[in-house]
Amino acid sequence: MINELKNLEDSFETLLKEINTEAELADLKARFLGKKGELSAILKSLGQATPEERKTLGQAANELKGRLTAKLAEAGAAVERATIDARLAADWTDITLTSSQTARSVKESGLHPVSIVQRELEDIFLSMGFDILDGPHIENDFYNFTALNIPETHPARDMQDTFWFKDMKHLLRTHTSTIQIRGMEEKKHPPFKFVAPGKVFRSEATDASHEAVFHQMEGMLIGKNITVAHLIYFEKTLLSEIFKRDVEIRLRPGFFPFVEPGFELDIQCLICGGKGCKVCKQTGWVELLPCGMTHPNVLRHGGIDPEEYNGFAFGLGLDRLVMMRFAINDIRLLHSGNLDFSRQFATC
Ligand code: FA5
Repeated sequence: MINELKNLEDSFETLLKEINTEAELADLKARFLGKKGELSAILKSLGQATPEERKTLGQAANELKGRLTAKLAEAGAAVERATIDARLAADWTDITLTSSQTARSVKESGLHPVSIVQRELEDIFLSMGFDILDGPHIENDFYNFTALNIPETHPARDMQDTFWFKDMKHLLRTHTSTIQIRGMEEKKHPPFKFVAPGKVFRSEATDASHEAVFHQMEGMLIGKNITVAHLIYFEKTLLSEIFKRDVEIRLRPGFFPFVEPGFELDIQCLICGGKGCKVCKQTGWVELLPCGMTHPNVLRHGGIDPEEYNGFAFGLGLDRLVMMRFAINDIRLLHSGNLDFSRQFATC
């Protein structure tokens, strides 16, 4: 009977080496250690043995059962590890792959046309020695109106319909001219020159050339003995840099409480060539670059002595410039979120 136990163990070990799955392992366990298994069959035959033999053989059979159970547990752990490894290998994703190497089709993207033109402008201004400043969208009454020579009772406050906060002290800035004051506060000592691009907000009805959220680029240059001639020369240089060709412009008086004298610089509409369309409201001209000589009160609010220094400021309508540049006939397309529209500029 000892031989039978030895043979059983040998055949168990031979079969164990071929086990690959949990199901095969369960079959092997049932075949050798199950109630109707091979070890049970041997143990049943112990009934015919002498008490002495029964004791020896019983002990040997129990030891064998212990060894087989331990080997089954060991093999079970190995099968489990192999199963997990196989699953991981099948599900493995290389997160370092670029979008074009994966099955998912991700379309190539690019900058928004406003960002493209804003960056071009920033390069032009940097090459002219301007600094680029930024400022908050949520402003207070002082920076948006009072410091810009627009006192509380001044009718100029009606010119821009404003998104006020409930406290009626804070607002979404209606123009980037707020940075005139913040810029002077920061720079302190003229001469200095800076531009400040960014979003502005007005509670107004939209049409082909008006949005409620749009972009401006403020500019300011402060020094000594600055004249309107400097301002006009500067604006012409700027426009020829932007359009890389001659464009028709016209300068006319414009009223802004923070400049004196103030001007409206219009560009001949590049959508219709000056014939008249919905973008230029049939006038042939588009308001693009209001500007003027900085009012002494504004310099004072910025901490600059108007007896000693003067300068000019301008507020470029960035979205309208983008429209002229790319012949876009409706400003609302810029913020439509329409990817077919935006993709046209991906390679610009
Ligand atoms: C101003 O906002 C002044 N702060 C500009 C300024 C700065 C004048 C410095 C003098 C000195 P205005 O409201 O005209 O001005 O707006 C400036 C430009 O923003 C306009 O010429 C136009 O190009 C653009 N703009 C105005 N309103 C809208 C709108 N609703 N949608 C799109 N563009 C607009």
